[in-house]
Amino acid sequence: MRPYKILFIAAAIVTLSSQVNAVCKYVGKKCPEDTPCCNGGWCSNNPAFCSTGCEPENSFSPKSCYPKPECRNFYEDFSKDQIVSINDYNGDPNSFRWTSDFVPDNHAIDNDGNLNLNMYLNKNKTNDFGKYQGFGVTISTTRWMQYGLVTARIKTAGLSKGVVSSMVISNNTAETIGDEIDYEWVGLNKSEVQSNYYWNGTLDYTKGAHHYVAPDTTAEYFTYFIDWKADSLSWGFNGKVVRTVYKKDTCSPTDKICRYPTEMSRVAFSIWDGGMGAPGTADWAGTPTDWSDNKFYTMYVDWVNVTCYNETSSTSWPPEGYGIPKNITNNNNNNGNGNNGNGNGYTTVGVNQPTTTDSESNNQTSGPGTFKKYVVPVGAVVGSIVATALIFGVYKHYTKGEY
Ligand SMILES: *[C@@H]1O[C@H](CO)[C@@H](O)[C@H](O)[C@H]1NC(C)=O
Ligand SMILES: *[C@@H]1O[C@H](CO)[C@@H](O)[C@H](O)[C@H]1NC(C)=O
Ligand SMILES: *[C@@H]1O[C@H](CO)[C@@H](O)[C@H](O)[C@H]1NC(C)=O
Ligand SMILES: *[C@@H]1O[C@H](CO)[C@@H](O)[C@H](O)[C@H]1NC(C)=O
Ligand SMILES: *[C@@H]1O[C@H](CO)[C@@H](O)[C@H](O)[C@H]1NC(C)=O
Ligand SMILES: *[C@@H]1O[C@H](CO)[C@@H](O)[C@H](O)[C@H]1NC(C)=O
Ligand SMILES: *[C@@H]1O[C@H](CO)[C@@H](O)[C@H](O)[C@H]1NC(C)=O
Ligand SMILES: *[C@@H]1O[C@H](CO)[C@@H](O)[C@H](O)[C@H]1NC(C)=O
Repeated sequence: MRPYKILFIAAAIVTLSSQVNAVCKYVGKKCPEDTPCCNGGWCSNNPAFCSTGCEPENSFSPKSCYPKPECRNFYEDFSKDQIVSINDYNGDPNSFRWTSDFVPDNHAIDNDGNLNLNMYLNKNKTNDFGKYQGFGVTISTTRWMQYGLVTARIKTAGLSKGVVSSMVISNNTAETIGDEIDYEWVGLNKSEVQSNYYWNGTLDYTKGAHHYVAPDTTAEYFTYFIDWKADSLSWGFNGKVVRTVYKKDTCSPTDKICRYPTEMSRVAFSIWDGGMGAPGTADWAGTPTDWSDNKFYTMYVDWVNVTCYNETSSTSWPPEGYGIPKNITNNNNNNGNGNNGNGNGYTTVGVNQPTTTDSESNNQTSGPGTFKKYVVPVGAVVGSIVATALIFGVYKHYTKGEY
């Protein structure tokens, strides 16, 4: 089969993006059978596109997209690097425990076997506030939890105002924000941790609380946990609960809605620069972030223990009936280095965004330390890079020698 070429037609984007129903953005209709998974506006038979961010309503069939991989217990001591850059993730949760969600991927495993989440000043570009901002890293589990206990031994990064370290359980993706449970440490006050939660993407900033931990959370490791149950949510450290929210107390007597996180969610750890962005965030995190003398900041995670309150019994992936039928995949793999749009043996179709910007993303955050604003990337057409496809809010690119 001869796949489509990727087109670079600026005018088409304006037209297509105004259509909303059953339209894969850069294709203008539901995805065709041979490139069934719609993700970030493109249709593809690359399994990665059938994973997080895949839109069932715009894909060839409702089962083209993989369901969210369900939770499995694990203890992670980072002795082996189980973290894959989002660009290299194939959508199979059995192959990696974590994805690193932004490019460049600033995570490292140090000689002591601790995870280092590093943040450097991004000197490539100023942000929307005219400032240079740090570029950190976010790692997220490849599996999704619906209630569970997450415990982690952490040394925070807040050696300067503005630096934010976080441990999060959330269902946010590039396309949607929803429920989120936070533990955050800000450079403004390195002796405390802040707990917070959000429901249904509502930016209600009244749910946060402050908890004194020790004189300096950047100097020592402490063990922090979030215990998320169907009826209650607790935060704690060093084995003691410091705050509990009961679901029943979040339910409104008038509209009967409980504003309590319930969505299947990923566990994430992140460092980001709150000091150089939106004014409200900067006031909360401390500002300005000290970026003198080529400084960089590191959040350390010694280990993470994830216990799922409803652990799945199945490990096979993808579940029967989901994803790309074998006859589709095989056809394209036989056409590996041919004229199939983007190399890798996979075909991705759509209209690329017409810009020449690089992987700029100064918008890792928005709001007072809450939702990571997954950067809306712009397609890059650089040298021999033919196609740049948006996925998971970062851009994935596929290289190919000719087009
Ligand atoms: C800045 O640009 C360089 C060179 O293109 C690139 O390697 C680096 O990843 C960019 N940094 C960020 C944060 O995008
Ligand atoms: C996340 O949860 C919200 C509701 O809080 C929902 O609207 C949204 O679709 C969910 N996103 C994903 C990726 O599940
Ligand atoms: C949840 O958020 C969505 C998207 O903003 C909105 O349409 C919906 O009404 C909200 N649900 C409730 C129960 O408020
Ligand atoms: C830091 O946080 C602790 C605990 O919330 C609080 O007691 C202390 O006053 C705060 N320090 C500053 C300088 O704000
Ligand atoms: C992980 O947490 C669970 C639940 O508290 C506990 O039973 C288990 O022993 C812990 N695993 C490790 C290796 O500490
Ligand atoms: C997990 O358990 C809750 C009830 O405790 C249930 O509502 C939910 O459907 C379960 N989720 C999964 C993924 O099995
Ligand atoms: C792949 O197989 C299914 C049946 O399993 C069939 O309906 C479909 O037409 C086949 N597609 C191609 C491109 O051969
Ligand atoms: C960055 O964030 C600002 C403020 O939240 C927003 O106005 C702007 O559109 C964002 N830019 C991108 C590229 O997402």
